[in-house]
Amino acid sequence: MVVPESQDKMYYPLNDLQKDAYVPDFNSYLALYQKSLENPEAFWKEVADEFFWKKPATAPMLQYNFDVTKGSVYVKYMEGAKTNMCYNVLDRHVREGSLGEKVAYYWEGNSPDHQMAITYSQLLSHVCRCANVLKQMGVKKGDRVSIYLPMIPELVYTMLACARIGAVHSIVFAGFSCESLCERIVDAQSSVLVTADGVYRGEKLINLKQIATEALEKCRERGSASVTKCLVIKHHALKTKSGGACNKLQTPWDSQCDVWWDEAMRDSSEECEPEWLDAEDPLFILYTSGSTGKPKGVLHTVAGYLLYTSMTFKYVFDHHHDDVYWCTADIGWITGHSYITYGPLANGATSVLFEGIPVHPHVGRFWEVIEKYKVTKFYTAPTAIRLLMKYGREPLQKYDLSSLRILGTVGEPINPEAWQWYYEVVGQSRCPIVDTFWQTETGGHVLTPLPAATPLKPGSATFPFFGVEPTILNEHGEELEGEAEGYLVFRRPWPGIMRTVFKNHERFENTYFKKFPGFYVTGDGCRRDKDGYYWITGRIDDMLNVSGHLMSTAEVEAALTEHAAVAEAAVVSRPHKVKGESLYCFVTLKDSREFSHTLVDELKRLVREKIGPIATPDFIQNAPALPKTRSGKIMRRILRQIARNDKDLGDLSTLADPKVVEVLFSQRYEAA
Ligand code: WT7
Repeated sequence: MVVPESQDKMYYPLNDLQKDAYVPDFNSYLALYQKSLENPEAFWKEVADEFFWKKPATAPMLQYNFDVTKGSVYVKYMEGAKTNMCYNVLDRHVREGSLGEKVAYYWEGNSPDHQMAITYSQLLSHVCRCANVLKQMGVKKGDRVSIYLPMIPELVYTMLACARIGAVHSIVFAGFSCESLCERIVDAQSSVLVTADGVYRGEKLINLKQIATEALEKCRERGSASVTKCLVIKHHALKTKSGGACNKLQTPWDSQCDVWWDEAMRDSSEECEPEWLDAEDPLFILYTSGSTGKPKGVLHTVAGYLLYTSMTFKYVFDHHHDDVYWCTADIGWITGHSYITYGPLANGATSVLFEGIPVHPHVGRFWEVIEKYKVTKFYTAPTAIRLLMKYGREPLQKYDLSSLRILGTVGEPINPEAWQWYYEVVGQSRCPIVDTFWQTETGGHVLTPLPAATPLKPGSATFPFFGVEPTILNEHGEELEGEAEGYLVFRRPWPGIMRTVFKNHERFENTYFKKFPGFYVTGDGCRRDKDGYYWITGRIDDMLNVSGHLMSTAEVEAALTEHAAVAEAAVVSRPHKVKGESLYCFVTLKDSREFSHTLVDELKRLVREKIGPIATPDFIQNAPALPKTRSGKIMRRILRQIARNDKDLGDLSTLADPKVVEVLFSQRYEAA
C-alpha cells in the first residue's frame, strides 16, 4: 500500500500535530503495521516491557486457535507471566515513577458546582482502602463483584480495588432496570454488590439503592442468593445537594447485608499488597446484548487487555504528558472501561470524569466543560454530536475551545454531515477526527485512523490498528480482494480480544467463530474502497438486499441526514413482493421543520441521487423520536417491527423511553 491519494475529499493531518506525534506520517504507520504483523512476538514484547511483571512469561507471547474445525477456540498471551493490573496503572506511577501528585481525574458532577480533583497517589490510597473493605467482606481472587454505580470516583476506586485483589468486576450501567441488574448478578454469581443511595441525571433523581434492593429480592426469588454484602455509597446525601436543598430519598436498608461505604472505609488500611495474577486470569466481565436476547458475559483477561488498551490509548489519541483527555462515555460500557479507566491510567493520563448529561443545565454543557478543564483530546459518540448539532453553533460560540487538538468518535457509523459539523464547528477545522471502530468483544480499537498519520475520509474508520488483520468475506466465506463489500472478520487475534463468554464457551464459539471457521466474525458489514479504506456499513442484520443489491442501512441514513430538515434517520427493511426487501425510513426533523408530502418527495429524490434508484425509499415516516437504548443506540429490531406492523414486541426493558414506540405505531404508514 502507498500513501493514499484519492479523488475523494480527504483531510490531511496538520503539521503542528505531526511534529511531536508518535506516528508522524502514513509511511511510519505502514512500517509499524507491517512489523506488527510480521513479528508480533517482538512487537508486543516491546509494549510489555513498559510494564511491571512479577514473573516473566514462560511461553511464546501468543498461542491461539481460531479454527473451530480443529478444536476448541482459545487465545493466550504471555502465558506464565504474573502481574497485577492495578499495580501497573497506579503503583507503577506513584511508587516507581513520579506521577503521585499528577491529577488522574477531574471529577465534574451533574451540577456544574460539583467538582474535585484526584491525584494518582490519592487514587491509590482510596483503591487500597476499598480493596481491604472487599477482602473484609470475604471477597477472594476469582470471586465476582457486581457494581451498579453512577459516574463517580468511587466507581473507579471499586473497579481498581477488584483488579488489585484479583476479583472479577461486573459493572452494570446504572441506567439499567432492576430486572437487567438481577439477570446479570445471577449469571455472574457475584458475592458483593456495590451501589449508591441515589443520583441525579440531569433533573431526574434516581433511587439506585431502591433498584438494587429490588434486584437482590428478585435474585432470591429465583433461588439465587449469591450476594451476601451490599456496599452503599452515600452519594446523593453527601455530594449532590445543591444550595443546601436536598430531596430526601427513602433508602431501603437491610442491616444483615447492607454496609455504608464511608463507615467501612473509615478504618480501612491504605496498605494492600496486590494479588499477583496469571496473565490469562480474568480481569472483568461485561455484559453485552446478544441476538437471542440473553446478554453475554464478555470476559477479558489481565495481561492482553493491559497491553492493548494502553497501546491504543497512547497511539490513537497520541497521548502526551500535558494532555487533558475527556471521554464522555459511561464506565458502564466498554468505552468507559478501556478509555476512561484502564487505557488512560496505564499511560498516566489526566482525564475528566463526567457525571452529567450533554444538555443539563444547558445545551452548552460539553463546551463549558472543555473550556473549564482546557480539554485537549475529546472522545464522544455520533448520537451526542447529532443531538448537539440540533442547537446550532450558538451554544459553542460562548466558549473557548482552542485547547482541543484531537476529536474522537465511537459507537456507530458517523454520517458525513455529523462528521463535517464535528470537524468544522467543534474542532474549528484544526483537529483530526479519529473514528474508532471496535466492540465490547474487541477490548479496544481495531479499525481507526492515527491522528497525525492517516488522511481522513469522513465516515470511514480507515485502517487497522497494529496487530489487527481484517478481511472481507462474502456469504460463502470467500475472501474478497480490492474494492469489496461483505462480512468484516479478523484473521488472527490481538491482545485485547475477549477470551470467552463467562461460563459459556460454547456460545463464544458459536457466536463469533462458527460461521466462518478460522476467523473472528464481528457481525458488521464492511466495504473496502479503491484506496483500501474500511467503511463500516452497520450490523449484518441491518444489511438490506433490494432486488439482489446488497446495501447498508447506514448509507441510506447518511443520505437522508444530508437534507437540511433532517436531524436523524433510521432505515430498516420491510419485506417486498418483487424486490425482496424495501426501505422503510424513519426521520426525525430538526426543530421548527414540518413534515410534508413535498419533503417526502425531496428525501426520496435525495437518496436516489446519492446512492441510486435501487435505494429509493418506499416509505418515509415522521418520527418525533427514535427508540433508543440507554446508551443511545437505535433499536432497529423495534423499527423493523413497526415497519411490518408486527406488534409482538417482546422485551423492551433496554429502551430509554418506551412511549416512543406507541407514538410510532400510531403514526405508521399503510401505503407508500
Ligand atoms: C458495535 C459494537 C466499542 C464501543 C461502543 C460500542 C458499532 C462501534 C463504530 C464505528 C461504525 C461502530 C458496530 C459494532 N460501532 N464503533 N466507529 N463505526 N460502527 O460497543 O456495544 O459492543 O457495539 O458498535 O456495529 O459491532 P458495543
